[in-house]
Amino acid sequence: MRISEKAVAARLKELGVELRPGVSLSEKTSLGIGGTTDELLLRRFDTIPEVMRLLANEKIPYRFLGGGTNVLVDDGELPWIVLHLPTSQPGMRVEGNAAYVDAAADLGGMVTFCAKHDLGGMEGLIGVPGSVGGALRMNAGAYGTQIGSYVREVELYRAASGEIETVRGNDIRFDYRHTSFAPADVMLRVKLELPSKPFKEILAGIKVCNEKRRASQPLNQKSAGCIFKNPPGGSAGRMIDELGLKGHRSGDAMVSDRHANFFINAGSASCADMLRLIEDVRERVHKSFGAELENEVILWKN
Ligand code: EPU
Repeated sequence: MRISEKAVAARLKELGVELRPGVSLSEKTSLGIGGTTDELLLRRFDTIPEVMRLLANEKIPYRFLGGGTNVLVDDGELPWIVLHLPTSQPGMRVEGNAAYVDAAADLGGMVTFCAKHDLGGMEGLIGVPGSVGGALRMNAGAYGTQIGSYVREVELYRAASGEIETVRGNDIRFDYRHTSFAPADVMLRVKLELPSKPFKEILAGIKVCNEKRRASQPLNQKSAGCIFKNPPGGSAGRMIDELGLKGHRSGDAMVSDRHANFFINAGSASCADMLRLIEDVRERVHKSFGAELENEVILWKN
């Protein structure tokens, strides 16, 4: 979708928004898949409600893109624009056991920043790619750690009220890869409370998690992490592996031969290739194990 109207573009500029025309989302997602649209870079938090009102009045549909590491975007010209927070020099500071971090910050960068201030607990999250905002929305987790456990406050653009609000951690539900945020809410900042731990100890924990991850996950290939959520009490990766599907393909979309719940873009896979592979594997798992696998990756289809 293109913002062609000059008056809208001019108003966006006044609101501190940078308009980047014709961006290919294949360059913005870890899967390397996605069509083309205009991107708005929201440089000022205080004008976000006004920007959202403008988009609603002009009937311009939008989606909000964080780190792009857990999303499968449709091919071709996309019927919505993409909003994005600037990622250069996002704010991070520590006060006692509290860390205040902008949602645009890199998740791993946040973990190491806190570690340098002797604040630990999040070692398991170190290799999880993506932004702090995306991790909050999904309640990202790995190796027994979930970000939600440490959240004390979230500042967000609340779609229901059209305003920027601060929500207390106790008023947010954090479940397995799911939270009570509304889909259109936009994460802006978070306050975390973290246990004190000497830097060296945190570093040792980080090393162990990194090694485990390197040994079991295809880190240097284009993926969106795990494609399916684990069903209660089961492991999607193990089931797909047991069916002998490692290396199974649809076009250039391929089940990783390292971890069967990671689907790889092995060349120039399209969204259609990836969706065919997802449905094929889902059906096979259902047929053999009776398990209904739910997507972990977020699908942005028209
Ligand atoms: N397994 C296989 N074959 C495979 C993959 C896994 O047999 O190809 C077996 C493993 O040997 C193990 C079991 O399945 O016995 C579970 O595997 P693993 O420890 O790799 O964990 P997982 O359940 O597949 C989850 C998260 C990961 C997270 C790891 C580590 C989900 C869907 N996945 O994977 O998160 O990194 O635990 O904590 O919850 C993600 O969210 O995108 C993600 C990758």
